[in-house]
Amino acid sequence: MSVRRLVCLASTLLVLFAAAIVRAQGPAAPPRRAAAGAARPLAPGAGAAGTSEQVFKNVQVLKGIPVDEFMDTMGMIAASLGMNCADCHTNDTAPGWAAFADETPTKKTARRMMQMVADLNKGNFRGRALVTCYTCHRGDHTPKVVPSLALQYGEPIEDPNDMNLYPNPSGTSVDAVLDKYINAVGDPDRVRGMTSYTAKGTYAGYETDRGEAPVEISSVAPNERTTIVHAAWGDSIRTFNGTVGWISSPDRPVPLVTLTGGNLEGARIDAVVAFPSQIKSAFSRWKVGATTIDDAEMTVLQGSNGDRPLANLYFDDKSGLLVRVVHWTVTAIGTVPTQIDFSDYRDVTGIKIPFKIVTTWTDGQATTKLADVQLNSPIDSAKFARPAPAPPLKVQ
Ligand code: HEC
Ligand code: HEC
Repeated sequence: MSVRRLVCLASTLLVLFAAAIVRAQGPAAPPRRAAAGAARPLAPGAGAAGTSEQVFKNVQVLKGIPVDEFMDTMGMIAASLGMNCADCHTNDTAPGWAAFADETPTKKTARRMMQMVADLNKGNFRGRALVTCYTCHRGDHTPKVVPSLALQYGEPIEDPNDMNLYPNPSGTSVDAVLDKYINAVGDPDRVRGMTSYTAKGTYAGYETDRGEAPVEISSVAPNERTTIVHAAWGDSIRTFNGTVGWISSPDRPVPLVTLTGGNLEGARIDAVVAFPSQIKSAFSRWKVGATTIDDAEMTVLQGSNGDRPLANLYFDDKSGLLVRVVHWTVTAIGTVPTQIDFSDYRDVTGIKIPFKIVTTWTDGQATTKLADVQLNSPIDSAKFARPAPAPPLKVQ
């Protein structure tokens, strides 16, 4: 059977077994915006939304998947092998995505590995993605073959982002945790009455070369949200209108990316967590766990909706505040995480709002610092309409 058929099969099975995979599998996450390493703003490729092989020039294995998922597979590979994009792709500094199509020996090896992994899962795990690049590579170019005595005799390392929750000994309930959170944020009636949120501040990430660019966030309860980063090379717009999500940005491979799968679900979650009283109804099923982040005790609420990807919400046991959200995106070759950390809670007209938001995903990290937040001001619904495709990259 050809590589292509195997991978198509693997991705079909992945969709079918998405829920099982999400539960059974360890870490996995999504790349957005520009990529680490290579990741300077890149010129837009031609064409509108389409599948990977329609949009890109030299796709032989990862065919038939949406562009956002394709970029997530690249994040999956980069994270699993501890590589930058440029470690596999040529170091061509010409602007644009064209150089990513060039053949390199490492790309060829990576394709061979994708086929090996598809065969392995098909032959042994009924096609479920239980073995991924990460299973062997664990962040290294070359997997280790000898077990580590340091690991065997060392303290076990607990990953707070694990999908499998550690039991919560306190026996607390979802309602108790969310009530405590709402009370920590402010007067419960006022928190429940929150209708909108607008913020201005700065955004610093790989795609802004870590420099601070102005950012504007507009959000209407329960879950519409638009974020616009005014980068030197043009505006990067992310919109979720309650149902559909898009990224319009000159640094993306296509001028308008429509979000799918875990990226769409992630956009919904990012929007809803701005409104504490909307969180409960955002998921149909909840589980309660416990962990620590930087030595602070956390209660973890894991939300799920049928087969859609899960999300973990972390509440500080001392303050009661939401300090982290982790959500996942299932791709054709494994699952990738996105982590959002909230800190620097400040009072805005009697309601505590996190003024620092750090987003970490497999191919980038960005820090948003807010300066000016307004609650309950009217926002034109046009803010959440599909953004226009991004114009070509502005030369800096
Ligand atoms: C371990 C090697 C490896 C790493 C690291 C890697 N890629 Fe790739 N990339 C590939 C392979 C292999 C393909 C071709 C996939 C196929 O044939 O299905 C590819 C294809 C692409 C393409 C499509 C190019 C075209 O027009 O055909 C883009 C865009 C891309 N990668 C971006 C990235 C980005 C961004 C990163 C960093 C987050 C990255 N890659 C990291 C191996 C890698
Ligand atoms: C079953 C274990 C296993 C899995 C799963 C696996 N690899 Fe590998 N990979 C290896 C081993 C072993 C080597 C080293 C081979 C050698 O040194 O000849 C390697 C080497 C590589 C290399 C060459 C690295 C270098 O520095 O030249 C690339 C690229 C690579 N793997 C990509 C991937 C990708 C992409 C995936 C997921 C689709 C993956 N591997 C999954 C075992 C694995």
